[in-house]
Amino acid sequence: MREKIEQLLAEVEQLAAKKEQEIEEIRVRLLGKKGTITQLFDEFRDVLPEQKRELGQVLNTLKVAATKKIDELRTILDESMDADEPQYDLTKPGDRLDLGGRHPISVTKAEILSIFNKYGYDLAEGPEIEDDWHVFGALNFPPEHPARDMQDTFFITEGENPVLLRTHTSSAQVRAMETMKLPIRIVCPGRVFRNEAISARAHCIFHQVEGLYIDKNVSFADLKQAVLLFAREMFGEQAQIRLRPSYFPFTEPSAEVDVSCNICGGKGCNICKGTGWLEIMGCGMVDPNVLEANGIDSKVYTGFAFGMGVERIAMLKWQVKDLRHYFENDIRFLREFDTVV
Ligand code: DAH
Repeated sequence: MREKIEQLLAEVEQLAAKKEQEIEEIRVRLLGKKGTITQLFDEFRDVLPEQKRELGQVLNTLKVAATKKIDELRTILDESMDADEPQYDLTKPGDRLDLGGRHPISVTKAEILSIFNKYGYDLAEGPEIEDDWHVFGALNFPPEHPARDMQDTFFITEGENPVLLRTHTSSAQVRAMETMKLPIRIVCPGRVFRNEAISARAHCIFHQVEGLYIDKNVSFADLKQAVLLFAREMFGEQAQIRLRPSYFPFTEPSAEVDVSCNICGGKGCNICKGTGWLEIMGCGMVDPNVLEANGIDSKVYTGFAFGMGVERIAMLKWQVKDLRHYFENDIRFLREFDTVV
């Protein structure tokens, strides 16, 4: 056995290899499960006790030498590859990259915008960081209105006209009235911020689409028709709407719009809480005070406005019960929509 070990030791010293495959073959031949050195260790069990100590030492030396040699061969090979051969095989097919998809909120937003675009509404946008005037003042909010409270609005500065994160996209109406020529017919999508506790129904960041139409002779009937056309395109031909009187500082009269429940067809289910109706937006005739505050003669011009939450529309469309899903971006949730290509 000793002779065999010494012979192998000499052999290990001489080992050379040019390819990774050769090194692996050497490793298997010597140290693999049935490798020569492994077999020697098996035989070692039957060696007479008085020879064990000495033979054990040489056998170990052999194993260490073989392991070291193999490592050395690998290092040499790696270095030589670094030097003059590309490390990758350019003829191999590339790794397949997973394609992303559009987020259901973006898809819903795009759908809302394309419906209004078809009816002649232009796209207008405003900044997310706004001032009190554009979010509240010019929209006829009285100074003591609760939205002006820290509880509801994220303020960035203090003072007479503080800078804040817009709480609604209605501020884009004001920007449009300041800059655009009449008549104005626009939709303004965007992110809005409210100081709210996050729950299944509320989030501190969400999306709205605002609409505004100002011209001569714009009437409440025009508003109703615009809303009905939208509801039919969004929720299907069978969709019906109803308007409930409501209040917003910037519109008079104001209404809340419900659409007939697209799940039970109006019969009543747990989504519409048995009422057959789902609330989709707020709307109204632009308050003359708002027109005047923005330099528009309210005796000549009238207008309507509406505003809806994109998350809400998306929840109703896809029957999602928890708003938070839209923000967590769990890929398993996103994959449930056709939006992942
Ligand atoms: N700004 C309102 C909100 O955030 C939504 C809204 C209601 C917008 C009525 C409008 C409107 O333009 O006419 O709750």
